[in-house]
Amino acid sequence: MKEKIRVGIVGTGLMGSAHTKALRWNDIEVAGILGSSYEKSIQAAGELGIAKAYHSFEKLVNDDQIDVIHLTTPNHLHFPHAKSALLAGKHVVCEKPLAMTTEESKELMLLGREKNLVTAVNFNFRMSDMIQKALEIVRNGEIGKPFIIHGSYLQDWLLYPTDWNWRLDTNVGGQLRTVGDIGSHWLDLVSYVSGLRILEVFADFKTFYDKRYKLTETGKQQEINIDSEDYASILIHFENGVQGVLSISQLCAGHKNRLFFEINGSKSSIAWNAEQSDQLWLGYRDQENQILKNEQKKYLSSENKKQTSSDTFNELYRRIYSYLLAGDKRHKPDFPTFEDGHYGMLVSEAIEQSASEKVWKKVRIEELN
Ligand SMILES: NC(=O)c1ccc[n+]([C@@H]2O[C@H](COP(=O)([O-])OP(=O)(O)OC[C@H]3O[C@@H](n4cnc5c(N)ncnc54)[C@H](O)[C@@H]3O)[C@@H](O)[C@H]2O)c1
Repeated sequence: MKEKIRVGIVGTGLMGSAHTKALRWNDIEVAGILGSSYEKSIQAAGELGIAKAYHSFEKLVNDDQIDVIHLTTPNHLHFPHAKSALLAGKHVVCEKPLAMTTEESKELMLLGREKNLVTAVNFNFRMSDMIQKALEIVRNGEIGKPFIIHGSYLQDWLLYPTDWNWRLDTNVGGQLRTVGDIGSHWLDLVSYVSGLRILEVFADFKTFYDKRYKLTETGKQQEINIDSEDYASILIHFENGVQGVLSISQLCAGHKNRLFFEINGSKSSIAWNAEQSDQLWLGYRDQENQILKNEQKKYLSSENKKQTSSDTFNELYRRIYSYLLAGDKRHKPDFPTFEDGHYGMLVSEAIEQSASEKVWKKVRIEELN
């Protein structure tokens, strides 16, 4: 067992800093950081108090001091960076979605297995205390046999045509926008809680703005054609005859981060909303409904505080690094791995094909064996 683990972070944005904080909460050393330029690396290293700023990904990946690489860059960089990190013998924690295509995610999954390295995808919602409780309730059969799984993931930060972000450029964010960016979390979470894989999907997309406006460096509005979805509605067939439906959009005024799902079983129902993450709703036909509150607050970073997404990052990295430091790969990881990342990409692939061909599409889950 190695005593000291050192991490290199790629990406200096929102997630670069979130990963750094959660690693430190776990007493893991963040030894170096890489931005999109050396200047950005230096700036982020200064702001976050990280010792080393890298010139290039090659310098980071060839640094013998680094054991694990965290990838927090825009989506198109996940595959090339994860691949070279694994080839260099580094463990990898990658942001979602794992890659741009299923060919890429499959290659990463197989490479991780072949090299016997720890791989993880940052599906942090799984680690919410009340999601852990929901997992226990559903898997213990307390709601009976699941019949229906439904919900939505709604945000509003792309409501105006002047809202711009790299996620709107399909070469950088991927062909699926709202599905890849936030739908990926919902699809992963409901499969995790229910233990049921998605077998087939029927998706319907809508792009409300076929043009958006990007502010250039000279302060002008540049008109850009948009060909990715603003809204997706998806019918889902899970294993065991369970039916589902999902709505996703980032154009829903008033909703900042409303990931909501409900599972209706043969005995009772259960529901969770990320905006009230410390509660679980339990619904009954013959008794009063209940709100289960998070009394335990196991993973909170400070007292008297609602659980936030940073707490889920803390717990996710606690699990990843406990596993990594224990060095015993005979146990199944208790965190999302590149297998889960590839599964997410297979579901996304079926959704994309279904929306374009307007037919039900099977998810190629046999690829996961
Ligand atoms: N798990 C979650 O809850 C969650 C939340 C938000 C974003 N994400 C994911 O995290 C990733 C990053 O998203 P974000 O919101 O932090 O984006 P961001 O735009 O805030 O940050 C991306 C950073 O990557 C840097 N970058 C670009 N090219 C680079 C290169 N070649 N080398 C090094 N750095 C480079 C950019 O300069 C920027 O600082 C995305 O894959 C996104 O899907 C996950």
